[in-house]
Amino acid sequence: MNLPEVLDQYQAEALQAIADCREPADLEDVRIRFLGKKKGRLKDIQSQLATAKPEERPELGKRFNTAKQSVESALEARKEELAQPQAEIVQLDVSLPGQPMLLGKRHPVTRTVDDFKDIAGRLGFDVADGPEVEDDYHNFVALNIPEDHPARDPLDNFYLAVANAGSGGPWLLRSQTSTVQIRVMEKTPPPVRIVSTGRVYRPDTVDATHSCMFHQMEGLYIDSGVTMANLKTVLKMIAVQYLGDDIEIRFRPSFFPFTEPSVEVDIQWGDSWMEVGGAGMVDPNVLKAVGYDPEKVSGFAFGLGIERLCMKRYGIRDIRLLYENDVRFLSQF
Ligand code: PHE
Repeated sequence: MNLPEVLDQYQAEALQAIADCREPADLEDVRIRFLGKKKGRLKDIQSQLATAKPEERPELGKRFNTAKQSVESALEARKEELAQPQAEIVQLDVSLPGQPMLLGKRHPVTRTVDDFKDIAGRLGFDVADGPEVEDDYHNFVALNIPEDHPARDPLDNFYLAVANAGSGGPWLLRSQTSTVQIRVMEKTPPPVRIVSTGRVYRPDTVDATHSCMFHQMEGLYIDSGVTMANLKTVLKMIAVQYLGDDIEIRFRPSFFPFTEPSVEVDIQWGDSWMEVGGAGMVDPNVLKAVGYDPEKVSGFAFGLGIERLCMKRYGIRDIRLLYENDVRFLSQF
């Protein structure tokens, strides 16, 4: 091989070796191999150059320099390339696990509503629904709450500015789900066995156990021969199914205009008791208001506060946590 050929081969091999380098340390090996002063390939070529004919030497010298420089600059360029962040070198690794999708969760109140509907369904109750904006008739009149009753006080209700517009007014945000008892009985002849869950609104002062909006589950069972014993059994079964076998519940005599007799329902709350709802035997006046015959049918009704039961189940100390939309809190459920 004459010298120009040797130079061509040298250059080609060096450039290929540089392109093949994957790490800076490989580059250093290549540099020593092709440019090393002591025993690299260059050294051999230089000695061949020394033996060339004097008239050929300038041309060969130039050729030699070009080859050497092209190897040097290729080394330099590859060095910079390898110093770049790995982006283009990292390849897609299909064996890596995928990025998990962020799944939403049901809010603890929603869970509780769903759980109650399931429990009531197993006890044979259908689910009914009613509007949150109610008229005076369904929130009060038909529930045997007279005109001058304190429950109608504007300070205890969210009356709407459209008061008296059209028929049925004044309008308000319902203060209880007992409105649904009326709406169902108006449309359905007895027997009736329903629950209804939803929001209710009261201008209460907000604290750890009160909110001006909360959820209730209403229950209504009308048939012939329904008794207070049935009511107590159903409430106890609901409590046990939702809160576990060892939950203690207690019934306290109370008063509601739409039930007689009436009770308040308490559950254990630390060392004392917490009221979680009201209940009683449907007042004959309510049955008459919807066209039922109180001589033929009787029944019970109850209204449970969903948030307080949910708080008991999950050990939540402050009702406000349920409405703050803090994902750190909500993601625990
Ligand atoms: N509606 C009552 C309340 O919100 C609870 C209740 C429901 C009482 C049904 C008796 C019967 O306080």
